[in-house]
Amino acid sequence: MRLSASVLTAMASSFAVCRLHMRGRVVLVRSLQKADTFLQRSIGTDVAAAQAEAPPRDGSDEKDGCKSLHALQVERQEQAERSVLINCQSRTNEKKFLKYLSNHGDIKKYFFYESYGLYAVVEFAKRENVASLLEGAVIPSVSHESTVPFKSRLLSLRNLSLVDLSNQQSGLQCQPQTTIPINEFIQRLSKEESIDQQITSLTEAYQLTEENSRLRFLVCSLLKDIAAAYFPECTIKPFGSSVNGFGKLGCDLDMFLDLDGISGRNVKMPKSGLSLEYQMKRANSERAVTQSILSVIGECVDQFGPGCVGVQKILNARCPLVRFAHQPSGFQCDLTANNRVAMKSTELLYLYGQLDPRVRSLVFTVRCWARAHGVTSSIPGAWISNFSLTVMVLFFLQKRSIPIIPTLEHLRDLAGPADKSVIEGNDCTFVSDFSKIQLKSNTETLEQLLCEFFEFYATFPFSRMSLNIRKGKEQNKPEVAPLHIQNPFETSLNVSKNVNATQLDRFVALCQESSWLLQQRETNTPRGGANMTTAWGLATLLLPSQVAGIKSRKKRRREPASERIKGLLESLKNKNQPKTS
Ligand code: GTP
Ligand code: MG
Repeated sequence: MRLSASVLTAMASSFAVCRLHMRGRVVLVRSLQKADTFLQRSIGTDVAAAQAEAPPRDGSDEKDGCKSLHALQVERQEQAERSVLINCQSRTNEKKFLKYLSNHGDIKKYFFYESYGLYAVVEFAKRENVASLLEGAVIPSVSHESTVPFKSRLLSLRNLSLVDLSNQQSGLQCQPQTTIPINEFIQRLSKEESIDQQITSLTEAYQLTEENSRLRFLVCSLLKDIAAAYFPECTIKPFGSSVNGFGKLGCDLDMFLDLDGISGRNVKMPKSGLSLEYQMKRANSERAVTQSILSVIGECVDQFGPGCVGVQKILNARCPLVRFAHQPSGFQCDLTANNRVAMKSTELLYLYGQLDPRVRSLVFTVRCWARAHGVTSSIPGAWISNFSLTVMVLFFLQKRSIPIIPTLEHLRDLAGPADKSVIEGNDCTFVSDFSKIQLKSNTETLEQLLCEFFEFYATFPFSRMSLNIRKGKEQNKPEVAPLHIQNPFETSLNVSKNVNATQLDRFVALCQESSWLLQQRETNTPRGGANMTTAWGLATLLLPSQVAGIKSRKKRRREPASERIKGLLESLKNKNQPKTS
């Protein structure tokens, strides 16, 4: 038997360890907040786990304990290549299962989760182990249907002898891949002792877990196996909230089909002598190439991709994409190609999130608050997007009297020659070496920042001004859109062009309400005594709003803010009065 020692230990105490890590994470985050220093964490992972498991690195991408997004992607992709996803029977015997798999090599890490059935993610020590496992796997025999003979690393466990019938309850510990609904979480929040703790607790409960992050990279890797049939050197990388540090459990999986290794973009032409070049089909534009690649890959995903359902090719969008659900993981997936600016935005957001732990906490809280009030939505429309909302938080943090994060222009000025990046004529250069960034010593608490955030946007002159994180300054609006947020890299574009006046008004009204609630003693202090679960602080902000129904500017003008606030206070007082009947 070749079960590694680490797996045996993990089997004995997998959950105890997990709980310890969780506790460690709480202590870590809190102490870092106090120290106002770098948050040494990887994508949704705790530091101890990441360091213990990380393969040796050359260190070139790592400064002051902060890994660049690029280094993280490389590490996670490599892990994913050595991993398989197995659909298990619900009463699978964990020990026998691992013993069986370990016939193919050492297992470095594994975990179970539930999503339309029980699944196991198993990471082997070497790629050869996966090849050996796949060699031993058989094509299923189905009587009334046929199968597409496409072999992938998504497998099903069929050996009945591994089902432990003597033990009806398998006792397998499943790692959660979803979170509890916000209205249930509100009660838990109300038991915290300060608003800062509430914010930290919300962030910890809703952020991506180590396991969820691994699963995201594994799905990308499985997809890459399909695309590799045409483009063997391609990679598929996650971007957006799956990796920028602001992802909530259950967020979509944005993927980028990276063909740079093949496209010749980074290849140097020989200056003299003979050389050969590939003959290649030509197209009218880069967009046309992207569309045809996505069309073909989308077709393969639809026809051959195990577990991929509801495939839609949305090729005429500004950014062409293939959308589908990956059933075994439960992820809603968006596959794009040639989307390098979005990858840069992801890197930038990740960098800002790493600079100070308050950035992640505040973005997280504002994202959850916005979702609870329907300011953002998973359905496309005239809503503010999570990306826009994140840029709004970053802008606010740049605008503090002692700025918490630097402007993008400053980050560009700190960049070295290797950081230079121009994509389709847009300057996407910014520093990647975290140690070059000097932060100012702002000591504001999360509570202060949250309150000030709402106040800032409750009174922001949206009708005249645009938000610009390159300069960290508002500027005159170049166009008439209700909300104008300059795209950080494609500076002539407005990232919130889709937002209509009604949605902006709702956002402003909710900011006014939340700012006011955080200033009231009735709502900003914990309720002691027996009635500990009465909503207070952040929990109050997540409850249904009294003002969210506001339809238009006209209606708001007729009813001054002070009147609405008075009404709100009255309703709060009534709510807290003991019931007499
Ligand atoms: P979720 O709502 O949790 O999925 O957040 P997200 O940050 O992943 O947003 P979304 O899935 O809408 O977009 C994915 C990524 O694409 C973002 O993180 C950005 O990097 C980029 N992106 C989205 N919208 C825009 C936009 O309007 N302009 C630019 N430049 N990039 C965008
Ligand atoms: Mg996304």
